[in-house]
Amino acid sequence: MQKTFAMIKPDAVERNLIGKILSRVEEEGFKISGLKLVEMSKKQAEGFYSVHSDRPFFNDLTAYMSSGKTVLMVLEREDAISHWRTVMGATNPEEANEGTIRKEFGESIERNSTHGSDAVETASEEISYWFSGFEI
Ligand code: CMP
Repeated sequence: MQKTFAMIKPDAVERNLIGKILSRVEEEGFKISGLKLVEMSKKQAEGFYSVHSDRPFFNDLTAYMSSGKTVLMVLEREDAISHWRTVMGATNPEEANEGTIRKEFGESIERNSTHGSDAVETASEEISYWFSGFEI
């Protein structure tokens, strides 16, 4: 079993899509081993996305991520990291395949409804950025 870190971003929380996205998580065979709703600060968003700090979209991205509530999740399944990325679809909803979460719900590359870790090491870092041991 592998763990990944996933988020339901503010655009999806605002549009009451938490239930639909969590249903999809369960239908895809993930066990939810950590779950919480937070309103992250700009500083927390900047820390989380620090790998993108030199990118032109960094300020907008971190302002957006701290503009409303976000669902944080630890998901467990065989091949969890790549499977969740397949279920989400491409970062840009315009490029996402039919049937993916971002195709169905994403509004733009920034307001793309969900996040998922991209590798084993980042999954472990992202999980420990947001969750303490007793929460997962
Ligand atoms: P996410 O998977 O959360 O990881 C980094 C985020 O940066 C990504 O989803 C997008 O929402 C955002 N992002 C990536 N590229 C761009 C871009 N060119 N313009 C705006 N936001 C971007």
